[in-house]
Amino acid sequence: MVGETATVSTVEHVDTDALRKARGAFFTPPEVAAYVARWAVRSAADCVLEPSCGEAAFLLAAHERVQTFPSVGPTRLDGVELHAASAHVARAVLRAAGASARVRVSDFFAVEPEPSYDAVIGNPPYMRYQDFAGADRAASRRAALRAGVALTGLASSWAAFTVHSALFLKPGGRLGLVLPAELLSVNYAAQVREFLMRRFARVRLVLFTERVFPGVLEDVVLLLAEGSGGTDHCELLQVQDADALAELDPETAAVWTPTSTSGKWTSALLPTASAAAYAAATTGAGFSTLHTWGETTLGMVTGANKFFTLTPAQAARLGLADDELLPLSPPGSRHLRGLSFTAHMRAELGREGSATLLFRPPADPSPAAQAYIQQGEEEGVDAAYKCRVRSPWWRVPLVVPADLLLTYMNADTPRLTTNTAGAHHLNSVHGVYLTDEHRVLGRELLPLTSLNSVTLVGAEIVGRAYGGGMLKLEPREADDLPVPSPAGVLECADALRAVRPRVRDHLRAGRLLDAVRLVDQVILHDSSALDAAGISDLEQAYAMLAARRRARGTKAKDRVSPHAMALSRRAQDQA
Ligand SMILES: C[S@@+](CC[C@H](N)C(=O)[O-])C[C@H]1O[C@@H](n2cnc3c(N)ncnc32)[C@H](O)[C@@H]1O
Repeated sequence: MVGETATVSTVEHVDTDALRKARGAFFTPPEVAAYVARWAVRSAADCVLEPSCGEAAFLLAAHERVQTFPSVGPTRLDGVELHAASAHVARAVLRAAGASARVRVSDFFAVEPEPSYDAVIGNPPYMRYQDFAGADRAASRRAALRAGVALTGLASSWAAFTVHSALFLKPGGRLGLVLPAELLSVNYAAQVREFLMRRFARVRLVLFTERVFPGVLEDVVLLLAEGSGGTDHCELLQVQDADALAELDPETAAVWTPTSTSGKWTSALLPTASAAAYAAATTGAGFSTLHTWGETTLGMVTGANKFFTLTPAQAARLGLADDELLPLSPPGSRHLRGLSFTAHMRAELGREGSATLLFRPPADPSPAAQAYIQQGEEEGVDAAYKCRVRSPWWRVPLVVPADLLLTYMNADTPRLTTNTAGAHHLNSVHGVYLTDEHRVLGRELLPLTSLNSVTLVGAEIVGRAYGGGMLKLEPREADDLPVPSPAGVLECADALRAVRPRVRDHLRAGRLLDAVRLVDQVILHDSSALDAAGISDLEQAYAMLAARRRARGTKAKDRVSPHAMALSRRAQDQA
């Protein structure tokens, strides 16, 4: 156990950004450590462990917390740290503060757990599975297995740290950790979510609307778990940033019951009123998921878009015949901002110099196509990964033109567009293939009707934030996107047709939210799915979630508060 202080024979003084990154060393701001210590340390006699203590941010906060109790008891403060130099600094910092603490240099997973602590608090290292391999990962998985948690090989280091940390708690003890917000969303964390709900009597999460660690891309949540015996719900607290924690009363938490303990917890990010409106709408008969309408799949992978996609002018210059070219939705998805992608739009884009054609000669290419293939070989296109693994390299595996195109990476929200042009599509967009039963209705009205606040909020929940604040939606996630149900659409079909021209005008002018307001009126308000207050809650929830995603995607220094962003978007929309 952690009790003994290890002697450090050599103290490594060399530390660099790269070395820190490799061992997941990002030190916690003092306000965050103080908040967690205030919650976790409840008597002067508490025994406290900080696993992976770095420079002892939490032990120091625990020591300060202990000083606030009338009688200062025989507190035990222990730390474990892999990196000798950090442990050395930790000891010096604690000594300077007058704390009597023991910091051991060790791999935390090599420390045999004994349930002897009242509080385990800290910030586990965050290393992705790619950087966390071999014996280290095997040891961490073994450690998690002791608690009955079988982590997948894709788990980042914090997952096993969380589980292993819990094994050091006395029954009824408290676990207070800073964890990546991916705890709520990633598949590999499902076992951790399930473990927390099974192991602790209370699970509280503090969610931040802004980024807490400057310079670190990962968004974090605070996990405050205590007691034992399991629970079916979490308590949620939302706060702007680390500074605002001082004012946050943990007893003001909202209760949130996940639909499944292991399933994604991202809907926890919704404010309470919006969560109620969202649940009411998505569980009503008027809504279902995109999967009810059909299948969503990835687009074509050419292996070399520059070679295989051509503008009409290029194709003419090369002298390619019509049967060697297929109509294509050009690379990217900027052109998919309306309700339909028509043959006329495609022709227009082609005239403007977009690559609206796919080079796809038959098995016996014409002399012009053969010349182009030879040019490709001279340029080494045949050696590109996806090209060299197929034969012949110049025949791109086709994906049938889809009924609807769905954008993949999104600044505002995923867009569905009817593929009236019958164009093929690349993997910058997904294809939605409607079932026979819903094809006619879906092609006509699904893109229009999906422009509603429930779907906008749903996309933020089922999708994931990507670099630069984009929202990425994989086909499997798109399956779960809440959209109006076929029955719901059928019921409002005439009213939807009536607003279509105005929606189209708003979209042409880039006024997404005005278009959404028109559709909300029909699909949510007039159908009595939600009242005006519920719709307004969802509008705000979308503004908050999208602003939050963008704020996380920007550098800390050009951060704007989500509230300010919501207001500015509204102002832009109204302008
Ligand atoms: C995110 S930092 C947190 C440090 C400190 N708890 C804080 O909040 O400021 C993670 C720390 O874990 C240490 N670490 C990484 N792998 C470890 C392991 N297997 N056992 C113990 N410590 C480890 C790193 O050296 C780093 O100091």
